[in-house]
Amino acid sequence: MAGRIPQDFIDELIARADIIDVVGSRVQLKKAGREYKACCPFHDEKTPSFTVSPEKGFYHCFGCGAHGTALGFLMDYERLDFVEAVEELAQLLGLDVPREASAETRSPVAPVLEIMGAAAKLYQQALREHPMAVDYLKGRGIDGERARDFGIGYAPAGWDFLLQRLGDGDDRRRLLQAGGLITAREGGGFYDRFRDRIMFPIRDGRGRTVAFGGRVLGDGEPKYLNSPETAVFHKGRELYGLYEARRATRRLESVLVVEGYLDVVSLACHGVHNAVATLGTATTTEHLKRVFRATPEVVFCFDGDRAGRDAAWRALQNTLAEMREGRQVRFLFLPDGEDPDSLIRSEGAAAFQARLSTALPLSDYLLKELKNRADTTTTEGMARLAELARPLLSQLPPGVYRELLTDRVASEVKIGRDRLAALVGDSAAPAPRPPRRPGAAPAPGRPSLVRRAIQILLHHPAAARQAEVPRGLGNARQRGVSLLQELLALLAQHPELGSAAVLERFRGRSEGPHLEKLLAEELLIGPDAAAQEFADCLLRLAERGRKDRLNELVQKAEAGALSDAEREELRGIRPGSADPEPGSDAGA
Ligand code: GTP
Ligand code: MN
Repeated sequence: MAGRIPQDFIDELIARADIIDVVGSRVQLKKAGREYKACCPFHDEKTPSFTVSPEKGFYHCFGCGAHGTALGFLMDYERLDFVEAVEELAQLLGLDVPREASAETRSPVAPVLEIMGAAAKLYQQALREHPMAVDYLKGRGIDGERARDFGIGYAPAGWDFLLQRLGDGDDRRRLLQAGGLITAREGGGFYDRFRDRIMFPIRDGRGRTVAFGGRVLGDGEPKYLNSPETAVFHKGRELYGLYEARRATRRLESVLVVEGYLDVVSLACHGVHNAVATLGTATTTEHLKRVFRATPEVVFCFDGDRAGRDAAWRALQNTLAEMREGRQVRFLFLPDGEDPDSLIRSEGAAAFQARLSTALPLSDYLLKELKNRADTTTTEGMARLAELARPLLSQLPPGVYRELLTDRVASEVKIGRDRLAALVGDSAAPAPRPPRRPGAAPAPGRPSLVRRAIQILLHHPAAARQAEVPRGLGNARQRGVSLLQELLALLAQHPELGSAAVLERFRGRSEGPHLEKLLAEELLIGPDAAAQEFADCLLRLAERGRKDRLNELVQKAEAGALSDAEREELRGIRPGSADPEPGSDAGA
């Protein structure tokens, strides 16, 4: 992995990015005063409650409470992780993402990725120069445009196509080998791993080629040759087509998990752009985590034969732990001897979509399978079903879904929900739900001084920056004072930071969401009034701090525990001239 992205670069990115551009290119925005409005892309609504403020560099929905910076928007809307969102925004601005030097950046990963990309280009070029490879793809119904989308190429026959073009010098050959593109000969030297094959580049979340799958053009063996596991490729993690699916659709409503490379590409040729394939392995939990980052709904597609059913059952087992609320998983079984590619070609896209809509929800599939394995017409069979269900249900994370499914199994075996729940390891009573928080409603009562100061600082960093920080502020024994001090120090050191950039510095910290909420609330004052009120807040806080400290010192004095320095300090902050009762040191 590369080193960390320097915080300065995030600052710059946020400063240069136009959130109106970023949001506006994905959501239809309408100007309304100093802000922009739209129907919220994160929940269903008819009247717009989603606002974007170019001044704050921040968006906020009054309906569902979604909010964040331009980076946060990219993460939520495009379902990118932080680094992906940074790369996306940087690309938009034509900037390269710098990385802090670290032991890791010196690892050979970056140059390996580079050479993989170079190989992918050469294979694509070779495809254009080999009509029989193009004919093979055409024969399989793959059009040129889709082949380009997926970066499909051709590795010519012969032993040194890549070696000749990319393998000059020991260093480069080492890289080719590290990427799994060449293999060492026993007697010394190397040869190309992929020869006379249609090449499918496997891309990571950012579109970088990390591996290849190569198919023979005819009936040779092995039919598919995959890259070996390398520093940049872990089979159990990558999904073929996920990158392309995310590019093809603005928002992935669902993802269809199929078995083969060609299934993915063929489906895309028929307008089904959300298919991904595991790389000849079972679906792992890691795969699922990836998919669920891109979409809440997954449909597994399996052959109807024995192997397909086994694979489906394994997939179900790996899925249970990820079944949180809002996620949906369904299972589709295809007729024997068919795969998605053959089906969509023979029956067309509409019929295929119709099939998809008949996919079994996970709960139905689970019960159906359990009933296949236990005869529920007998008492023994029902006991067996409960026994089979137990380890499965206990893998579900606690929550409504787990309760519902437990209910269903319980009603199936007629043993009473509570007894089954007890068997599964739940307490008999359903878990109490946490009380609903009242969304973005302001906290009741008078907002504290600290809260107000932090809020003004977030809304008007430039105004807050000018304020003089009175001595004694740190003495205030109020919650949030240290956060306020940290923010003041941050602005002193980085006076150029705007609202969104300040927020970005708290990404991943527990204070982050709190700060976001403060910025989401409206603050109906301009910069001048803000500067004045901020300075006033600080003064009042410092005064509190003085009183808090005074109390502390007086208490200490009464306990006879004052140091010389503290006695001095006490003289300084105590108004009036009264002495701190000398001699009390000898007291009880
Ligand atoms: P076509 O036969 O070209 O339609 O490909 P397919 O994708 O339908 O192939 P199949 O259903 O036979 O296999 C599904 C997936 O399993 C492939 O996409 C590969 O990832 C993997 N696979 C199939 N055959 C082999 C093989 O011989 N070796 C390896 N390593 N993987 C294979
Ligand atoms: Mn096939």
